[in-house]
Amino acid sequence: MAARVGVDYREGVVPSPLHPRLHLFVCTNRRDTADPLGEGCGERGEVVYAALKRAVAERGEVRETWVSRTHCLGVCPRRGATVARSPALDGVAVLSEVDASDADALLRAPQAAPDWSAIEETLAKQEKLEAERVLELARRLHPGLTAEDIRNPHDFPALEDTDWHYADGVLTGIQSAANSLRAMRRGGASKPGTDDGEPEP
Ligand code: FES
Repeated sequence: MAARVGVDYREGVVPSPLHPRLHLFVCTNRRDTADPLGEGCGERGEVVYAALKRAVAERGEVRETWVSRTHCLGVCPRRGATVARSPALDGVAVLSEVDASDADALLRAPQAAPDWSAIEETLAKQEKLEAERVLELARRLHPGLTAEDIRNPHDFPALEDTDWHYADGVLTGIQSAANSLRAMRRGGASKPGTDDGEPEP
């Protein structure tokens, strides 16, 4: 089965259903002490790895927070170890000179995904309220107008009113934002999809 993640993977690559909330990769790479790049994170990394595993177990988060050993991450600090995190937090994906006392900070949760359904619902409410206001203002200027009529305001000279056009412009802005959000959700362009971040079918 081909992967359904918007990437053109080779046929036969199978996407895993597992989605850890956080995956930390701790460098435990060892080199010879005479190596010009240094001896590697080695034992210092093992200490960080053990501290993270312990902290995750104490929190009861072993299913959603994964901690793995890895080889060199290309930073090679002289003290502490290098740790990569996925997803990044505050734009930081790799940290170096980490020691065991940093475990709690490393386990900080990424920000919750935006609640796209709530945002769409709020926009829909605003759109409805603003549409009612625009129609009500139009009827003050020209009694009897319908929602259909005001789609063609140039047919009604009474609507040549700055304040009415301002209100109508606000409505257009809200509609435009709501339409963009709906289109994004349909296409999964920025992964708003469902509340758990998965694109809608
Ligand atoms: S040896 Fe740890 S980052 Fe290179």
